[in-house]
Amino acid sequence: MSPDRVRRLVAQDARAWGQLGVAWGLRGDASRVPAASSAPETVQPEPEPQAQPEPIPRNPMKLTQPPAAQIEAKPMPTPTGTPAEVAQHQLAQILQDYTEAAPHLVTGTPHTTIVFGEGDPCARIMFVGEAPGADEDRLGRPFVGRAGQKLEQMIIAMGLQREDVYIANVLKVRPPNNATPTLEEAQACAPYLMRQIEVIQPEAIVALGLPSARLLTQQTLSMRDLRGRWWPMATPSGQEFQVLPTYHPAYLLRNYTPETRRKVWEDLKCVLERLQLPVPDR
Ligand code: URA
Repeated sequence: MSPDRVRRLVAQDARAWGQLGVAWGLRGDASRVPAASSAPETVQPEPEPQAQPEPIPRNPMKLTQPPAAQIEAKPMPTPTGTPAEVAQHQLAQILQDYTEAAPHLVTGTPHTTIVFGEGDPCARIMFVGEAPGADEDRLGRPFVGRAGQKLEQMIIAMGLQREDVYIANVLKVRPPNNATPTLEEAQACAPYLMRQIEVIQPEAIVALGLPSARLLTQQTLSMRDLRGRWWPMATPSGQEFQVLPTYHPAYLLRNYTPETRRKVWEDLKCVLERLQLPVPDR
């Protein structure tokens, strides 16, 4: 495809996301958002988007509402119990809504399982990846493959256990060919992630990799510019959260250099410091 054609497609997609309020810049194959596999770094520089969309205003995360049935919780009896039980109940309702609406069916996907998310429903820290892979699809749990093992090591290095945090993805089912989510797929699934965030009320959201980081921060910057700092985000209902982007564990595995490891650890330390948790020696 000619560079001009790519540029036109990128601008077209960026406009579409601009209209949606979802600024998920594109690179390369213009039909797909950037993959974690091509996250930026000096070790393996990230190709920058070929054309930048209009600047997006900071902060507001106004996702255009997909059909109301897809995102609105159905009226239900007010759950009672401990905060964790209530939150778990609300998460189960979101999963049920997701299952009924089946937003992933906007595109073909060879998935066998919905990988909704798991962990402490009242976690102070929430990790958001990109999409389930083959292992996650097989087991119905997020981050259980190689990248998942690395994520678990990162969590343990923070002095925490996997059960202490909540782990989810932008997409809830494995994309075709494990590809990076398309704008259409992300648009269809993002409202459920927003609802998960609203239930969990994390004090810190760690966006793992570029697609998650761009979706949550509403920025089109490279990971080099996004990572290591806090970005405010707001859900469509206006609730505000703080997002810290860092490299996807799969990227870290591919670029297992002292430099990349140091940067990821710096990012994780930011999270611990924000939450006033002890920072383990390394
Ligand atoms: N990569 C992700 O982004 N999410 C998973 O659940 C597994 C791998």
